[in-house]
Amino acid sequence: MEFSDLYGRDLICTQDWAKHELDLVLDLAGRMKRERYSSGYSSVLANKTFFMFFYNPSVRTRQSFEVAATELGGHAQFLEPKAMRLKTEKTAGETVEDAAQVMARYGHGLGIRILEDKVGTYGEGEDLLREYARWSTIPIISMAHDKYHPCQGLADVMGWSEWFNKGTNYPPDWRTLKGKKLLVTWGHGALARSWCSVQEAMLIGSRYCMDVTVAFPEGFDLDPQVIKWTEKNCNKNNSNFETTNHVSNGYKGAHVVYSRHWMSPEAYQDGEFLKQKEIEKALKYPDWICDTQKMALTDNAIFTHPMPIDRGHEVTDEVASGPRSCIYDVAENRLHVQKAIMALTMAGI
Ligand code: CP
Repeated sequence: MEFSDLYGRDLICTQDWAKHELDLVLDLAGRMKRERYSSGYSSVLANKTFFMFFYNPSVRTRQSFEVAATELGGHAQFLEPKAMRLKTEKTAGETVEDAAQVMARYGHGLGIRILEDKVGTYGEGEDLLREYARWSTIPIISMAHDKYHPCQGLADVMGWSEWFNKGTNYPPDWRTLKGKKLLVTWGHGALARSWCSVQEAMLIGSRYCMDVTVAFPEGFDLDPQVIKWTEKNCNKNNSNFETTNHVSNGYKGAHVVYSRHWMSPEAYQDGEFLKQKEIEKALKYPDWICDTQKMALTDNAIFTHPMPIDRGHEVTDEVASGPRSCIYDVAENRLHVQKAIMALTMAGI
């Protein structure tokens, strides 16, 4: 199998990559999971450094990237804006043009996380990543930005296909996702979350031939471009795509339920993130919670979530900690897919 064509590639959204390229990542991630400490992978990133540039906090992303670099024989360096002197709209400082080109002289990959309150308009995070990609000669990897979360999307489909195949100790088989119904449903909550994880799930689920239903209360529409792409992916695969404003209809016949809060399109006004207003608005919809009654409408669906979970708002404890919850498997898979992404883009194996 030929891997070298991904060397140096940026990963900002899975939609930017061909399906066979995503397959390469998932195949390698599956092998890396089964042969986790094999000597075949322990020097893949020898002498190489992955910069992890976090504007927002993280548990899984930081830890899994750091562990991934360690297990591949490389190093991951944590960076945050306050430790640098970057130019912003309000302060003088170093431009992306300069920072990106200097970082590329030192390191071999750069991950960036920027979402929620760290942007003033939807799309500003995406623009920042693409600006780094413009100037940098090393791969730019999204570690979650306001539009997409590609590493999460890859870990999601890996976990779901393991559940629909023989289980998490066996190689995942992506073909098991064909014809499965993915319900991405809005959940009420107090976190005012960006759209990145759910949009990525819709895009990658539809690439892997799933039927996709997106459910949300009126006024919580997602990016029209992402809706269009998801619909196009579904059309290409002869699968079904629909949206609904009904709280429970989408559960009918679902095989994967993804219940997650997201902010409304009004969250950013005049360059400000109106977090408190968003929270107050979202908490008016207590019925929008994934619970056992709604899960009973599904076709024995698994429950998935990228975490951190807002338990009691997005989902009940009974479902999140129940026998059909795949949350920890998906979280574990972040490590394996990121090892594969780093190996392919930073080392060209
Ligand atoms: N899913 C995810 O990205 O988790 P963290 O925010 O903890 O990194």
